[in-house]
Amino acid sequence: MAGHLAEEIANLREEAEAAIGDAGSPGELEQVRVSYLGREGKLTSAFRALGRLPQDERPAAGAAANEARARIAAALARRREELEAAGAAAEAAGQQLDATLPGRGPEIGHPHPLMTTLERLLDIFVGMGYEVTGGPEIEWYTLNWTALNYPPDHPAMDEQDSFYVSDQIMLRTHTSPAQIRAMRARHHDSCPVRGLDWRFPPSEVLAQCRCTPAPTRVVVPGRTYRREAVTLTHHDIFHQIEGLLVDDGITLADLKGTLAIFLREYLGPQTRIRFRPDFFPFTEPSADFSVDCELCAGRGCRFCKESGWVEIGGSGLVHPNVLIAGGYDPDRVSGFAFGFGVERIAQRRYGIEHIRTLYENDMRFLRQF
Ligand code: DAH
Repeated sequence: MAGHLAEEIANLREEAEAAIGDAGSPGELEQVRVSYLGREGKLTSAFRALGRLPQDERPAAGAAANEARARIAAALARRREELEAAGAAAEAAGQQLDATLPGRGPEIGHPHPLMTTLERLLDIFVGMGYEVTGGPEIEWYTLNWTALNYPPDHPAMDEQDSFYVSDQIMLRTHTSPAQIRAMRARHHDSCPVRGLDWRFPPSEVLAQCRCTPAPTRVVVPGRTYRREAVTLTHHDIFHQIEGLLVDDGITLADLKGTLAIFLREYLGPQTRIRFRPDFFPFTEPSADFSVDCELCAGRGCRFCKESGWVEIGGSGLVHPNVLIAGGYDPDRVSGFAFGFGVERIAQRRYGIEHIRTLYENDMRFLRQF
């Protein structure tokens, strides 16, 4: 009887090991486990039968049952590992790259059209020998106004048009204050003009000069701020490029020639250019400059205010008082200056009717550039 049960257990073990080897999936393997080791399982029943054996036969049969259980459990664990590894490999194989599919390329951004415009504009001036310099957006009142020869009661200085930080400091309303910074930086290292406080009275700067300052030839890009309502062509934050050239014998012809070369380089050789007398406190004489409107081919539209012309910026010969504020002697040198809106010229170049489009970050617009 005892031999009989031990033999039965050995058969069960072999049978179970074969079934485990045949199980093709974790689900099938679980069924095998239940049918041998589960509560109603074949090996579990054999364990129960041990209790009915005569006392002296139990140890041998018990040991056989224990061994069978341990070996079946080990075989189950081994087979489970095999099946899991095979499953993972199959899954990975399913995910393998199909080299015939079109690529999903990374999304690569690009500079904002305004920055692209700025770079191109500056490149043209660099090609003409200009140096690119800068200046702070938060600027001294004396540089934004006084050094640029604004009389104390000039209407442009009305607080309505400017953002003030304190009574001496403001957000610059134009890049023109950079003219003063650029000129003072051309003085010799040992010249007192180099280290002057920006609040120093502009009309007394030349008297401080102990050197012969080098010529100035700079363009200054930058952001500017005005308290203004947003219209098709105006925004309260916008960008300008300032230009300044100070040297011996500079005339209005140099200014016109420089701007014409620049405008036709950027907008195309057919571009028509118009200079008209204007007024700015820091230039004398002064002229604004416009180009033909491309949005309407000169016929008149909302963008050009029905005139056929788009005003790009202002210019002129540097006022003697401004040269003095830069520490130059107006009897020895002369210069021209210009300043224009980057948004405006980008609008004209790309046919962008509303300036706001440049700030809305609508991807449908930005992707076109
Ligand atoms: N600063 C002027 C403005 O923002 C533009 C300007 C006019 C700049 C004439 C100049 C200039 O350098 O000569 O309206």
